[in-house]
Amino acid sequence: MTGPRPNAPAAAVHFETGSADLTERVAERLAPLLQAGDVLSLEGPLGAGKTRFVMGVARAFDPHAHVRSPTFTLVNEYPGRCPLFHVDLYRVEPSAVEPLGLDELNERGVLAVEWGEKLPTHLAREALRVSFEILAAESRALTLSAEAGRGLALLEACRGWKGAR
Ligand SMILES: Nc1ncnc2c1ncn2[C@@H]1O[C@H](COP(=O)(O)OP(=O)(O)OP(=O)(O)O)[C@@H](O)[C@H]1O
Ligand SMILES: [Mg+2]
Repeated sequence: MTGPRPNAPAAAVHFETGSADLTERVAERLAPLLQAGDVLSLEGPLGAGKTRFVMGVARAFDPHAHVRSPTFTLVNEYPGRCPLFHVDLYRVEPSAVEPLGLDELNERGVLAVEWGEKLPTHLAREALRVSFEILAAESRALTLSAEAGRGLALLEACRGWKGAR
């Protein structure tokens, strides 16, 4: 038999970006598709480009957005069609994630979460995962993947974009 197995996971979508601006460009392209309740789980090492990706989304939502890394504030909110909540879980202990109130923020807007590996499973389930890999000083591999729901819908929408493999 040919064709995908019924429960086969959706194939990931890959981009290779040769500059921080090109990473922002991928995010800008995703931005118009995002709606309240969506979760972006941004994963990968320090300096990989997670914050730059969020800058791309925030600037597409509002060209004047001034994006700072929320490493110390933990959550920054940016305006747009719907609010964008930029979260950094790097320094957050698992027991301290719940008090951040991410569920309520997720109802009101889009969650873009650095170190998304630390998200509780119910928020990760329908996330669009963006995994970053550092290839060289200016070069990053971005791998988009998803398991279910809105994450899968967003993943399918990215398939076929220029530069996507
Ligand atoms: N192709 C690229 N995509 C993204 N950033 C790049 C790229 N090439 C170089 N850079 C540089 O890498 C750095 C990425 O920093 P950024 O703050 O976005 O990383 P991060 O993943 O958020 O790290 P952290 O985990 O510390 O928050 C920036 O200085 C950026 O200019
Ligand atoms: Mg960052």
